[in-house]
Amino acid sequence: MSDILDKTDLRFSELGASSPLEIKLLFEELLGRAKEEARSISGPSELESFRVRWIGRKNSIFSKIQDNWLVSAAPDQRRSIGSFFNSYKGFVQQIVDSCEGAIEVLEMKDPPRGKSGFDLSLPGVIRPIGTHHLIRQVLQEIEDIFFSIGFSVVEGPEIETPYYNFEALNIPEFHPVRDDMDTFYLELLKSAPGPLLLRTHTSPVQIRTMEKRQPPVRVIVPGKVYRRDNPDATHSFMFHQIEGLAVDSDITFCDFTGTIDYFVRRFFGESVKTRFRPSYFPFTEPSVEFDVSCVFCGGSGTAKSGGTCGKCKGSGWIELFGAGMVDPAVYGFVNYDPKKVSGFAFGIGIDRLAMLRYGIDDIQAFSQNDVRFLKQFP
Ligand code: FA5
Repeated sequence: MSDILDKTDLRFSELGASSPLEIKLLFEELLGRAKEEARSISGPSELESFRVRWIGRKNSIFSKIQDNWLVSAAPDQRRSIGSFFNSYKGFVQQIVDSCEGAIEVLEMKDPPRGKSGFDLSLPGVIRPIGTHHLIRQVLQEIEDIFFSIGFSVVEGPEIETPYYNFEALNIPEFHPVRDDMDTFYLELLKSAPGPLLLRTHTSPVQIRTMEKRQPPVRVIVPGKVYRRDNPDATHSFMFHQIEGLAVDSDITFCDFTGTIDYFVRRFFGESVKTRFRPSYFPFTEPSVEFDVSCVFCGGSGTAKSGGTCGKCKGSGWIELFGAGMVDPAVYGFVNYDPKKVSGFAFGIGIDRLAMLRYGIDDIQAFSQNDVRFLKQFP
């Protein structure tokens, strides 16, 4: 019997091979035959037949070698048969894998009839359409409100110089207010002209705008700002603000309160109550904090379920943003004449405004990218 495939029907002792070299030659002959057969594979169905014939679980050449050669071999020969047996399976599997790859490439280049990669009669893949992030939605809503009363949008850089972020806003070096606005400084070459930082508020764009434009100025400035604040439910190291600035020859405190009141009623609804409290910002004088009656408890300070309202801590008011009449010292930095112009400015924290509006109790949810959260605001 000389055909190697016929030999797989015999028990090992009937093969007349005993030395490791003879065993090796048997397996080499077998693999040579596998390679030869693989040459005639021309499609997936032939490849599958080849796989089943050579390494299939049942009635394959592989299973015959296992049952007839390996199991029946004397214990001292079983070791070397075993190692050739394992390489046999790996080798045939490699032939199958490389044929599979070759068939795929061929089919891509020249798809068989009726099996084109493109079937124009099939419906297209429906991809989910994304929505704007809630912060973007709130920004747009605020922009629309201010557009309706003559404001326009300007933007400024997120990387700022200390001059625009602090000094030109009347915050000299070593002013204590800088402690509240500690931020991230960029690592620069020693030869750099001066330090750069991530802006802590959108107020520097007030200066940049007034440098470029003469009054009347009526702008809002949306954008990202950064502070070295530890993250918690109401603080992020990156958050969003919208700055407002109106400067003209005859702007009064009444214009200021009227504008803010209009915005808050449009945004929160007519029933909301508003109030100003004295505050301090180096670039506004007088400065105020602006509060709205608590939208969760209706300003009563008592939660709907009874007990103290957790959102306003029982006061009935929630602090919304800082604002004020532009400090005349600031006009000095932009060559406006403080005797001829006056104006107001405000800086609203968008993330906290969105939290209030939609009852979100953790600011971190905005940047965690959890689609279960984001999908609630289509
Ligand atoms: C300012 O940033 C001033 N530039 C606002 C201003 C503009 C006043 C123009 C006067 C005239 P303040 O530091 O209070 O102010 O921040 C404004 C708002 O940003 C806060 O009311 C709050 O809503 C929000 N905010 C501040 N820090 C954080 C933080 N770490 N995470 C999220 N929101 C914050």
